[in-house]
Amino acid sequence: MLDYKTEVYGLIGNPVEKSLSPIMHNDIYEKLLKNRVYLAFNVKEEDLESAIGGMTSLDIKGFNVTIPHKIRVMEYLDELTDMALKLGAVNTIKNLNGRLIGHNTDGDGLIQAFEDEDIDLDERVILLLGAGGASFGILGSILFRKNPKKIYILNRTYEKSLKLKDKMDDERLVVLKSIDELKKSEVDILINSTSVGMYPKVDESPIDLDGFMDLTVFDAIYKPLETRLLKEGKAKGFKVIGGIEMLLNQGLLAQSFWDESFLISSEDKNKIRKRMMENI
Ligand code: ATR
Repeated sequence: MLDYKTEVYGLIGNPVEKSLSPIMHNDIYEKLLKNRVYLAFNVKEEDLESAIGGMTSLDIKGFNVTIPHKIRVMEYLDELTDMALKLGAVNTIKNLNGRLIGHNTDGDGLIQAFEDEDIDLDERVILLLGAGGASFGILGSILFRKNPKKIYILNRTYEKSLKLKDKMDDERLVVLKSIDELKKSEVDILINSTSVGMYPKVDESPIDLDGFMDLTVFDAIYKPLETRLLKEGKAKGFKVIGGIEMLLNQGLLAQSFWDESFLISSEDKNKIRKRMMENI
């Protein structure tokens, strides 16, 4: 039952129609944290400032932020966490007694997805496919939180890989012009942050897995749940992690940012994962 004490949370973005966040957070509120509600708000770019103003005036406790507002929203906040500063983007805002704090849980969601499978990124050799917006967030958070041995960047457009390396300015980054420059057996972890294989072009794969050995494959794509890349990885006996795991974990970490005491059992986490999968 909702009443005058109900705490309001939500998502701001455009479009928000397909978002799984309302399902995830309202599931948590039904089962674990009572008397809260999570709503999706479609906010136009020109209305972003007033939407953020409404957060304090209506005492909305937390927002998630999605495309296209993740970068510009930072202008309207009072404080940014180190991770939000590092990535130059915010996906979670906490209203702490009228002070708006911007944070980013996307990268930690990715790292948690690996930790859930008992995979540590420290001292590992990583091959990152892609050099777009998602690649920037993934790379930045791995370099910020973990200590990989080396990260190779491979992208269709070589110049974009060079730009990404320049922005990150880290000696562990190596840009490849082509996959032929790489000894595949040296790679421990493959991360796909391109859109190749995403619905509806589900028959595409960004890389040929022949030649890799003892690999873990992560695909940031979550639609379809199992991309062609993940299917091929599985067939080779590699460990595979789907993008849904990053999505689930970034949401749970957002909830923990709002409620420092929030903890979820693996049983409840499985139930929420299942509900999200059913709604992809
Ligand atoms: P996002 O914000 O989701 O990362 P993006 O910035 O448009 O989106 O980046 C998409 C990524 O997928 C890029 O690395 C892109 O390669 P280019 O930099 O060469 O454009 C990659 N990508 C998209 N379609 C591709 C395709 N058909 N083959 C190879 N790479 C592709």
